[in-house]
Amino acid sequence: MRDVYKGYVTGEKPNPDTHVIASFRFHARDAANAAQAIAAESSVGTWTELSTMKPRIRKRLAAKVFRLDAKNGAAEIAYPLALFEPGNAPQLLSDVAGNVFGMRELDSLRLEDLQVPKAYAKSFKGPAVGLEGVRKMLGTGKSRRPHFGTIVKPKVGLTPKENAEVGFESFVGGMDFLKDDENLSSQSFSPFEERVVRMLESVDRAESETGERKMYAPNVTAETGEMVRRAEFVKSQGGTCIMVDIVTAGFSGLQSVRNAGLKLPIHAHRAMYAAFARNPDHGISMMVLARLARMVGVDQLHTGAIVGKMEGSKHEVLGLNAWLRDKWHSFRPVFPVASGGIDPLRVPSLLAIAGTELVINAGGGIHGHPDGTRAGAMAFRQAYDAWRMGIPLEEYAKGHKELAAAFRKWGGRRIGVTE
Ligand code: 3PG
Repeated sequence: MRDVYKGYVTGEKPNPDTHVIASFRFHARDAANAAQAIAAESSVGTWTELSTMKPRIRKRLAAKVFRLDAKNGAAEIAYPLALFEPGNAPQLLSDVAGNVFGMRELDSLRLEDLQVPKAYAKSFKGPAVGLEGVRKMLGTGKSRRPHFGTIVKPKVGLTPKENAEVGFESFVGGMDFLKDDENLSSQSFSPFEERVVRMLESVDRAESETGERKMYAPNVTAETGEMVRRAEFVKSQGGTCIMVDIVTAGFSGLQSVRNAGLKLPIHAHRAMYAAFARNPDHGISMMVLARLARMVGVDQLHTGAIVGKMEGSKHEVLGLNAWLRDKWHSFRPVFPVASGGIDPLRVPSLLAIAGTELVINAGGGIHGHPDGTRAGAMAFRQAYDAWRMGIPLEEYAKGHKELAAAFRKWGGRRIGVTE
């Protein structure tokens, strides 16, 4: 072991009220050295002894390894609360998940979980309205049915007018919720303001036609100041939700939007999460991302569709969803979102596995319907009705032509679930 990393171990169990606790897994030739290197680099240490180091600094701020499983490459590290600036999410990451991922002492490193004390959690805003707030806005608090949402497709390219028309068809067909796609912001073919104004007109028209409440989440992702300006614009136009690509925008951007105090629910898209969460041996787990997102304050979060096109095992997604809905400090529960590769025929399997406290989002599975968007949305609601009444989908499709057409197009698609 390199001497410089000695002393970052403690036999004492840390007080969870005064420490942030990180759980790591790693591969390294010398596990004890590697674990202490993580503790050192992510708190007060570096590769050499420092003439500037003071005993008081080490005593007060050094992170300590308090559990080490050298055989399996696992360690838990406690970080004194004084290391962290309250209410600063990027700083938390620069600390516990900063340089350590690139250190030569480690062949690979994965941050599996992160526990934060109540006193620190309190310095963040958390979800503005949360799962129950979103349900209240859409009037589903009593029925507890799943929310059905769509992403306008093609992902980009439609004009605001075309986009709004697709939105109207989606809403009238039975969608509660509609969002922009993750790569749509304010390109030349779809300027943000015009798109928002036109889609909100569709929301109004669809609400009068159906008597149901509808919600649109425009993607405000941009440079931080511009994101806040766009969110304010949505609010000024009577919009009731916004969407943020929370990974590409970063936690600083997300915090700026959340802390602007607009009280608009934030739909969190996780585009790019798999760059760091997919490799089981290296990176940051989706659970850590979920904790950070909830703490900063998102109201709906993509966690994986289990039966869809994105990776994510049933075990992992159900664990994330349960945690999002559960108590955590004083933060409101978050609505889990299943999205990516869902068609109407997958709805019963998804509901049977994941339950109804869920937003089910579909793009291709609605706008790819052979008879168009409205029929695609209707097929989704028919699939839900069939499941709710315990009628096999094939049976229900006999009297519902939209579902029958969905069968003809997607009936051969295999539903693969990773346990
Ligand atoms: C998303 O935002 O989750 C995707 O755009 C979903 O699109 P899909 O339903 O066509 O896979």
